[in-house]
Amino acid sequence: MEQNILEIRHLCTSLFTEKGELKAVNDVSLSVAAGKIVGIVGESGCGKSMLARTVMGLIPSPGKLVSGEILLAGRDLARLSRREYCAIRGKELSMIFQDPMTGLNPVMTVGKQVKEAIRQHSAVSTAEAERRTIKIFESVGIPDPEKRLRDYPHQLSGGLRQRVLIAMAMVCQPRLLIADEPTTALDVTVAAQILRLMRELCEKGTSILLISHNLGVIAQICDDVYVMYAGSIVEHADPITLFENGLHPYTRGLLNAVAALHRNDEVLETIQGVVPNLLHLPAGCSFSMRCAQCRPDCADHFPEMRRVAPGHEVRCHLVSGEEEA
Ligand SMILES: Nc1ncnc2c1ncn2[C@@H]1O[C@H](COP(=O)(O)OP(=O)(O)O)[C@@H](O)[C@H]1O
Ligand SMILES: [Mg+2]
Repeated sequence: MEQNILEIRHLCTSLFTEKGELKAVNDVSLSVAAGKIVGIVGESGCGKSMLARTVMGLIPSPGKLVSGEILLAGRDLARLSRREYCAIRGKELSMIFQDPMTGLNPVMTVGKQVKEAIRQHSAVSTAEAERRTIKIFESVGIPDPEKRLRDYPHQLSGGLRQRVLIAMAMVCQPRLLIADEPTTALDVTVAAQILRLMRELCEKGTSILLISHNLGVIAQICDDVYVMYAGSIVEHADPITLFENGLHPYTRGLLNAVAALHRNDEVLETIQGVVPNLLHLPAGCSFSMRCAQCRPDCADHFPEMRRVAPGHEVRCHLVSGEEEA
């Protein structure tokens, strides 16, 4: 059997706010096979970053992991102590955060931060660490790397800071890299370069969980895609199946938006309405109030994830499973 580097089972993370429990991650199950790039796509506010932070053991307050398992090479991270978590972050598990200021120390030069990350995980001389830093800076497209490594984070543009973070996450060649919207702040050429780098890193043995609100980005490099909506996974398939035969009305909406972008439509086709407030989720399908195909019973109970073909699963009352097909 193919080994999964990451296997998440029935994960629930909630934010216990003054207004009540906000289910940011609601019964999420997914897996990342060794040597693969797996994408998570969904609109802003659907819980992608909260899911990533839960895997990293860095849930912001007032959030808490409520239930579920996070198996990294078979070991359940949900049970780790803070100290055990620190020992695996960096070497085994690394994350590129959505906000490029998170994760950089404002009072240390970026070169020193990357060198320290290298030296923390491998016994190399300062000179060798510097050489590697310059090399990784070059490969993430930081111009003039010898000069840049003497800069402090505030002296760099947002795009350059993002590239430093990517370099730092990549330099230790972790087993699993979680990249949360890594290219959103970058222009298209640099973004394409970063995606190529991720593919290379993956070929060297790092599995990647790539998070984006942009289905176009996800489809470009992922082997497998999970569509997330209002804290839950609503569809799972490889990108070709998703494009050719995406079945969930929400997935179809995302696909239409990508197609409209390619046609350069003046009026961008979007999905009607907004992501529901996760504090007050409806009892039934969380997409029901935005769904053009919604039937009266859709709002009654939460749909199960059904397998429609090997490797293709959908959470929609309108889609029947394999055995019924
Ligand atoms: N610190 C916080 N306090 C309260 N609610 C939060 C906090 N951070 C995120 N949320 C809420 O959690 C939900 C998921 O957020 P997030 O994981 O950042 O979404 P995404 O990354 O998909 O845009 C959203 O409804 C957001 O409003
Ligand atoms: Mg996010």
